[in-house]
Amino acid sequence: MLVDPFARPITYLRVSVTDRCDFRCTYCMPEQMRFAPRPELLTPAEIERAAAAFIRRGVRKLRLTGGEPLARRGVLDLVRALSRHLGRGLDELTLTTNGSRLAVHAAALAAAGVRRINVSLDTLDPARFAAITRRGDLSQVLDGIAAARAAGLRVKINAVALRGAEEDGIEPLMRWCAAEGHDLTLIETMPLGEVGEDRTDRYLPLSTVKARLAERFALEPLPDRTGGPARYMLVRELGLRLGFITPLTVNFCDGCNRVRLTATGQLVPCLGHETGTDLRTVLRATSDDRALDAAIGAAIAAKPKGHEFRIGRGLAPAVARHMSATGG
Ligand code: 5AD
Ligand code: SF4
Repeated sequence: MLVDPFARPITYLRVSVTDRCDFRCTYCMPEQMRFAPRPELLTPAEIERAAAAFIRRGVRKLRLTGGEPLARRGVLDLVRALSRHLGRGLDELTLTTNGSRLAVHAAALAAAGVRRINVSLDTLDPARFAAITRRGDLSQVLDGIAAARAAGLRVKINAVALRGAEEDGIEPLMRWCAAEGHDLTLIETMPLGEVGEDRTDRYLPLSTVKARLAERFALEPLPDRTGGPARYMLVRELGLRLGFITPLTVNFCDGCNRVRLTATGQLVPCLGHETGTDLRTVLRATSDDRALDAAIGAAIAAKPKGHEFRIGRGLAPAVARHMSATGG
């Protein structure tokens, strides 16, 4: 079993299957993003082998992310291959997507054993959506979400909280999620990678959002901890379960149960630190899984206590790696 130096059992692996994305969300990457050359990406077979090693060591939940995971060719075959572990060590196989190709893939994901997905959606305003994502089409994403529901997938919407016009969009998003039966989680923007602008201007602390919502709604703290960073509230009037992910305002690292495998095969024990272990070299050097197990064990033994994210004018990103490479 994998337990880190702070006695946290590692039971959750997030894998970025590609750092590429068809969107260019302003808080995530610059307009002219440079992606990793394709030969540097782990192959689906390498991802499978790495995932199997983690599952043998007690990982029970696997999430494919990116970039945009559905933009990677062959990702459905990978999902099908990984789903063979469900019920054999793995409890859940899930995915975080921007939804742009979900209409095409939703049924196949459900057929492969996926039960729940997270869809990133920051606003329901088409013009603001286009401005945030730089290339996204809101109607395509909404069609994708509808297809996911039609296929029987549970949907959680993830929205990055942004200062500015989007602030007025939070309540409509909450009402829509409640009406559609989606959970909603709000996320504070994290200082990961250069994006060609200062994140400070757009940073909206969730403490502010929560205080404003409390003037309008009865917010009831829910005890649910999914092992993740989100704290949940029940919005009584709407019957909405609303999550808050607060890297900047309330640290949640104590209960961290996860590590990340980047698109290029770096095992990153903490989102908030530059350090990573190169599993790709190990995967390519030998088919002997003992070397792989040793590398994984060493990386977990070096998992830092937590992040120290700060946002402020002139402050460089805490980590050079973008969320899209690490797996959001
Ligand atoms: N800070 C916070 N969230 C981010 N995401 C991407 N980049 C950042 C960042 N710098 C979010 C996306 C998506 C998830 C994969 O990560 O909006 O919801
Ligand atoms: Fe793509 Fe997600 Fe980054 Fe937006 S936040 S550019 S959808 S990876």
